[in-house]
Amino acid sequence: MFSRAHIWLPLFMVYLLDLCVFAKGKLNVLYIIADDLRPTLGCYSDPVVKSPNIDQLASKSTVFYNAFAQQAVCGPSRTSFLTSRRPDTTRLYDFNSYWRVSAGNYTTLPQYFKSNGYTTLSVGKVFHPGIASNHTDDYPYSWSVPPYHPPSFSYEKRKVCKNKDGTLHSNLLCSVNVSEMPLRTLPDLENAAEAIRLLKAMKDTESPFFLAVGFYKPHIPFRIPAEYLKLYPIENMTLAPDPDVPKKLPEVAYNPWTDIRKREDVQALNVSFPYGPIPKDFQLRIRQHYFAAVSYVDAQVGKILQALDDLDLAKETIVVFTSDHGWSLGEHGEWAKYSNFDVATRVPLIVYAPGVTSPLPWPGEKMFSYVNVFENTQEQFDEGYLVRSVVELVDVFPTVASLAGLASIHHCQFPSFKTDLCTEGSNLAHLLGRHERVANHQAYAFSQYPRPSDTIRDDSDLPSLANITIMGYSARSTDFRFTLWVGFDSSCFCANLSDVHAGELYILSQDPNEDNNIYYEQDHAKAVMLKLGIRHPWTESLKEHMTYFREALKRSLFKNTQLTN
Ligand SMILES: *[C@@H]1O[C@H](CO)[C@@H](O)[C@H](O)[C@H]1NC(C)=O
Ligand SMILES: *[C@@H]1O[C@H](CO)[C@@H](O)[C@H](O)[C@H]1NC(C)=O
Ligand SMILES: *[C@@H]1O[C@H](CO)[C@@H](O)[C@H](O)[C@H]1NC(C)=O
Ligand SMILES: *[C@@H]1O[C@H](CO)[C@@H](O)[C@H](O)[C@H]1NC(C)=O
Ligand SMILES: *[C@@H]1O[C@H](CO)[C@@H](O)[C@H](O)[C@H]1NC(C)=O
Ligand SMILES: *[C@@H]1O[C@H](CO)[C@@H](O)[C@H](O)[C@H]1NC(C)=O
Ligand SMILES: *[C@@H]1O[C@H](CO)[C@@H](O)[C@H](O)[C@H]1NC(C)=O
Repeated sequence: MFSRAHIWLPLFMVYLLDLCVFAKGKLNVLYIIADDLRPTLGCYSDPVVKSPNIDQLASKSTVFYNAFAQQAVCGPSRTSFLTSRRPDTTRLYDFNSYWRVSAGNYTTLPQYFKSNGYTTLSVGKVFHPGIASNHTDDYPYSWSVPPYHPPSFSYEKRKVCKNKDGTLHSNLLCSVNVSEMPLRTLPDLENAAEAIRLLKAMKDTESPFFLAVGFYKPHIPFRIPAEYLKLYPIENMTLAPDPDVPKKLPEVAYNPWTDIRKREDVQALNVSFPYGPIPKDFQLRIRQHYFAAVSYVDAQVGKILQALDDLDLAKETIVVFTSDHGWSLGEHGEWAKYSNFDVATRVPLIVYAPGVTSPLPWPGEKMFSYVNVFENTQEQFDEGYLVRSVVELVDVFPTVASLAGLASIHHCQFPSFKTDLCTEGSNLAHLLGRHERVANHQAYAFSQYPRPSDTIRDDSDLPSLANITIMGYSARSTDFRFTLWVGFDSSCFCANLSDVHAGELYILSQDPNEDNNIYYEQDHAKAVMLKLGIRHPWTESLKEHMTYFREALKRSLFKNTQLTN
């Protein structure tokens, strides 16, 4: 992106010229999305997971400590954050429709950059594949060239996992010898190599780039290079702090993790439906494999960031690292995503903006040297800027656009099915590069999850649109999580807030794992909130809170959904 004419100029002149380029808003964007990654990372204070490369990025970035996905399943979440519209506006709660046809012809984040002269490139899983992105990853609207998919992904769910007896199966736990795999590689290794190839190709082009890299891990199956397991000796593994299904958990809130049950090694355990539990030794192994998969992704992120650095692009490239949603690792007796709990909705969100979240590197200075996790002895990296306000993945689009200097995006007006460019999120750019101390930037992060019935069925994890009869709307403040499961008519996308099927309220300072639902203990709940000084209309009474929540929903969630009652 910089002309080679710079070479004969004195170094400081090059530096000044570079700053002029920033002023024109021509920063590149590297947007890295992990799949099913909750913030089990060193930079999010996880005591077990080894993620030195992402931690290093975090040390130069703003780390959003309380960032939440709008729906804890891949397709709906990705369509939501890539259009900056909530699932009620994209009308995608399953995998079976394309928003441009079924909801509105909304502009996507990469499309906005493309229309501003950027070369936009997609590697791996960015949009959800299939119908949800018209079988093209929304090409050509979002991308300058057809998206890249790693050839080895076609083997992802095949029988390639070796049991002790040497036979091959489609297992959940699938640590492999990479040189024995079909094509002798793995999808995320191919993704990293392609991303690096594209960075090199973009280095000398005139136009700025927006490169999105979607890693496939730590999504199941845990098909990962076996060596990463060594980082997590099984004897060091512990169960979730709350491995049992809480007594006060409404049935509709529980997800029966059917995708995990389908893998051959889990089937062999004969785990009872819907509550299990999975045998404890196997739970430990799932956790071990998930953590190993995170370290494996970390290594791929490290390779790409080092390439960015080696190409001298770190000073002119915004880097975003995030995930589509989280993943339960046995908390509440649950696994996988498919719920409204923090473990399923909370995501890492790390934003690096050169000169904003860290000083610009001087010519030749290294920002992101690859850290080999197997040799790394450094326990802790410096902390970056930490923001504890709740934020949402719908905020990423307006934030990145603003950081890159593109025309700002206004908030969607009711109703926002209009196809004009607008956002249902907030621009977080003003929070970057600060250790936040004072007022919250907004009160709530909203998530939602659909269910087919009050009782658990085979399709409770992922009901198709026609079968949705209940929607769980969840509001997360810094102090509590409040969820209402209400009647939902999928033929008109109507939520009926008078038809409350179940409620959940968790006070996070006392119950950080969200196990003790006090929604049904109104007097107790009121007393607790008063005692904690949680300033909220709801301290008056549950009924008032419901009214408040309903108003909040009307303003934020239901802008485009017909309200009854
Ligand atoms: C959707 O918008 C794009 C531009 O953003 C336009 O090229 C396309 O024709 C529109 N499609 C429909 C069906 O309106
Ligand atoms: C979806 O893909 C089909 C086949 O490639 C194409 O004909 C159709 O126009 C696409 N839909 C939209 C809304 O672009
Ligand atoms: C991986 O497989 C290759 C080819 O079969 C073999 O040569 C190598 O020793 C294996 N590595 C390990 C660590 O088992
Ligand atoms: C496993 O636990 C032991 C005892 O706490 C500790 O010394 C060791 O470093 C741990 N191993 C790893 C790889 O974390
Ligand atoms: C699986 O469990 C059920 C009851 O929990 C039992 O009846 C059945 O025999 C078990 N099957 C196997 C193969 O262990
Ligand atoms: C709705 O649920 C029923 C019962 O689980 C199932 O047979 C049917 O296929 C589902 N309908 C759709 C459209 O998925
Ligand atoms: C909404 O739910 C209430 C309570 O179940 C019910 O009386 C009312 O008829 C419902 N409204 C609609 C439009 O379905």
